[in-house]
Amino acid sequence: MALSKQNPTTLNSWLSLDKQFKVECNDHISSFFEEKNRLDNFTISWQDFYLDFSKNRLSSTSLELLIDLCTETNLRNNIEKYFNGSAINETEKRSVLHTALRSSEIKNPDLKQEVDDALEKITNISDQINSGIKLGFTGKKITDIVNIGIGGSHLGPEMVTEALSFYSLGINPHFVSNIDPDFTSKLLEKLNPETTVFIIVSKTFTTIETLENAKKIRKWFVENANEESIKDHFIAVSNNTEAPKKFGISSDNVLSIPEWVGGRFSLWGSVGLIISIIIGSKNFKEFLKGAESMDLHFRNSPFEKNIPIILAVISIWYNNFFKCETEAVLPYNQFLGKLPDYLQQASMESNGKSIDRGGNKVNYETGSIIWGSTGTNAQHAFFQLMHQGTKIIPSDFIAFKKSLYGDSKQHDILISNFLAQTNALMMGKNSTGSEIHKNIEGNKPSNSIVINKLTPSSLGALISMYENKIFTIGSVLNIYSYDQWGVELGKSISRDISNGKQDNLDKSTIKISEILKS
Ligand code: F6P
Repeated sequence: MALSKQNPTTLNSWLSLDKQFKVECNDHISSFFEEKNRLDNFTISWQDFYLDFSKNRLSSTSLELLIDLCTETNLRNNIEKYFNGSAINETEKRSVLHTALRSSEIKNPDLKQEVDDALEKITNISDQINSGIKLGFTGKKITDIVNIGIGGSHLGPEMVTEALSFYSLGINPHFVSNIDPDFTSKLLEKLNPETTVFIIVSKTFTTIETLENAKKIRKWFVENANEESIKDHFIAVSNNTEAPKKFGISSDNVLSIPEWVGGRFSLWGSVGLIISIIIGSKNFKEFLKGAESMDLHFRNSPFEKNIPIILAVISIWYNNFFKCETEAVLPYNQFLGKLPDYLQQASMESNGKSIDRGGNKVNYETGSIIWGSTGTNAQHAFFQLMHQGTKIIPSDFIAFKKSLYGDSKQHDILISNFLAQTNALMMGKNSTGSEIHKNIEGNKPSNSIVINKLTPSSLGALISMYENKIFTIGSVLNIYSYDQWGVELGKSISRDISNGKQDNLDKSTIKISEILKS
């Protein structure tokens, strides 16, 4: 069954939001604190998460209307269709079931078998490498793993292995994604083929970057080791069963990506193999459990106390009513440095759409531009514009109560910065006369997401929180979040250019191509 199809701007809740926006759009956030129980109504405590969304340019009246919008767009039913495997990716006629990869409650026996088999394979490979049962071709312990893949076959695994590097069992992860040959050559300079395992990750096994990098690395391996050992040192993760075999990878070393897992949501299954190898299969399972518990919260909590839904409606509010074009993600944790990049793909590839589920061009805003960096580094880079510039940048500030190594003194300074920024963004500072240039209006919004500690489980929950936020935005805005036809167009034209086909190119591009070749 398909997701409901309604133009949100025609609904009563939207029309009321339009009116209410005009009433409150110039109000100062601090004035909303005069509302009764603002802090109770604009915070959610769930397990080891605490979300404070009180520092937003959003009254309780508008919040209620946004919740009504979710109801009017049949969000509850749509969520069920998402989790129960309906073919909600209609343009590709597919279910969207990455949540099944982390579910302990799968009802369909075939699906359960498929998920269990994949997890067993991930576990076995990681345990064998970490325990030293699986050795390199000269009998040495594996020291390095190279993930060859791009987009969803790269960003998630890299972000998570870096985020959870505190939990590493000691093997070094590397990532080859870009087709830039110099990067790969430089990496190969420092690798020893005797102790390195390569994982080629590509759902289609047709992505040019991944295949070219894999071929280059294979050649290097044959030159520096031997062809016979490819079967022991190369693993493939793919939905394509034939192409990895042609590449010389033994069928035992091919892990599958089911059709119903989209690339940008695939890190929970075989695409996460490198994560499981680096942090160990036990921690990988904790990561899955954390994500599952956030799924259950999303599926079962009332909309007004539902973290992903609240984050989604706040995003819709700023994007469509204030016309903010971007949202910043600001983790106060250096290990989460790649979270904004990861969320760029997860969110922008999903909700960057302009045709609705009924086939009409939309007359409202869809996906926001996601960007960000870690605090405190970001404070010394772009926060000036956030504090005093002309733009409103809705942002998620993410902090952990505890430091991993227990250095509470330095952690306290990090936290003081986190607190200071959200306070300053909201309150600003009044200056007049000769000090007018120091005037900071404030009234800049932020969400604070406070989590007990960065663990495999809490990171799983954090990523699942954002995935479910992305689903909610797409559901309410009546777009297909799980295809990516724009990217496909770019891919096919570059394939044509590589094959020397220029017939359909515009004059400007042909000229640049001539200059590049001259
Ligand atoms: O970037 C576009 C995309 O299609 C992503 O959705 C996907 O994650 C990536 O390319 C890589 O595709 P594949 O896993 O098939 O190599």
